[in-house]
Amino acid sequence: MKKPVIAIDGYSSTGKSSISKIIAQKLGIIHMDTGALYRGVTWFALQNCIGENGSIDLKMLFSSFSEIELEFKNFEGELILFLNHIDISKAIRTNEVSDNVSFVAKQKEVRDFLLQSQRSQAEKGGIIMDGRDIGTVVLPDADYKFFLTASIDERTRRRYQELISLGIEADKQQVKENLIERDRIDSEREIAPLKQAEDAIVIDNTFLNKQETIDAILSHIEKI
Ligand code: C5P
Repeated sequence: MKKPVIAIDGYSSTGKSSISKIIAQKLGIIHMDTGALYRGVTWFALQNCIGENGSIDLKMLFSSFSEIELEFKNFEGELILFLNHIDISKAIRTNEVSDNVSFVAKQKEVRDFLLQSQRSQAEKGGIIMDGRDIGTVVLPDADYKFFLTASIDERTRRRYQELISLGIEADKQQVKENLIERDRIDSEREIAPLKQAEDAIVIDNTFLNKQETIDAILSHIEKI
């Protein structure tokens, strides 16, 4: 039997990736965190494509795609992202990357560059992919689609905790502003905006913990 293709979209810090990782383990399927790919390209740009005005030079970035090789490897259940064979899993979580990623991700060239590798991963089935446009653009024919949301205060609390646990300095107000700004840019962009697919099941997990959110998703998968 072909294993399912599951799309998980939603707002920043609704737990999409950590929930997807556990569901993948439970169902014996692959997990792909597409946000990490956009963060990886942003990290590359911050290292290699800074223009004279001190910000990311998009032309320089677009002409460097052939130098970017992003690859996920699974180490003991943890998804590790390598850029040109260097582990950048922690580097992509910094505030600098978070502050620039939505600007990079709204560029058509960047989205085109990352689209094919996302789709080809899903061709054989057996994948849970999380992001912003998975159910609408990347995998519109996914077997199951979910859209996660939660209050901004709860999402701020989760993101702040995540940063602290990674040993990254954080300020709650700045974390909140970054989430609001990213969601705004992600929702308003022209190409593949953050939006709920018409056939997605919406889960507001403001008052649900991680396990309860997982159970809610699995109950739908088992039901359908
Ligand atoms: O999921 P995460 O918060 O790490 O994603 C970081 C950013 O990457 C998002 O704010 C968004 O700008 C971009 N992104 C995207 N499309 C996706 C996944 C992430 O534009 N499928």
